[in-house]
Amino acid sequence: MPKTNSLPAKSKKPQTKTAGAKGNSKLEEFFTDALKDIYWAEKHLTKALPKMKKAATTEELKSAIEEHIAQTEEHVSRLDQVFELMGKKAQAKKCDAMEGLVKEGESVVEETEEGTMTRDVGIIIAAQKVEHYEIATYGGLVQLAKTMGMDEAADILGQTLEEEKQTDRGLTEIAENNINWEAEQEDGEEE
Ligand SMILES: [Fe+2]
Repeated sequence: MPKTNSLPAKSKKPQTKTAGAKGNSKLEEFFTDALKDIYWAEKHLTKALPKMKKAATTEELKSAIEEHIAQTEEHVSRLDQVFELMGKKAQAKKCDAMEGLVKEGESVVEETEEGTMTRDVGIIIAAQKVEHYEIATYGGLVQLAKTMGMDEAADILGQTLEEEKQTDRGLTEIAENNINWEAEQEDGEEE
């Protein structure tokens, strides 16, 4: 290589980075708070999803939700494991965002007719908003866990992150393959 990089002057102030966040209690506190938030959110979902499943029109959507109910229960127990790894008691702290997203899903059900494809369209979009909140949360938590040298926790949270992404993709597929189109046809029929 023709060009040699000149090293910065030795006098440059070294980065005052603490060795991992194990020593950074503020960051660990933030991380724990975020865990409590998503713990509440997941538990809330275990109660909300069965209602969504019941309200859904198609078997396809019902079974996708069913599958996600089982996954969500697993997500709760993974969070239990992460709390345990940290030597902390698993605690839930109310997540206003998830409460709002679930409420939005419930109003979609109220505002659409039972047995219609339009209802499924609405439920899918509401469910995807939930997934995206979870993807954002787990994405951030995985990175933080890695930064803090908590590799095992990062691994566990990463498994959940992958499942949330899969669920989101699955919902997109259901919508694009059938339901959106059928909902559009349904509109025509009613005229
Ligand atoms: Fe989840």
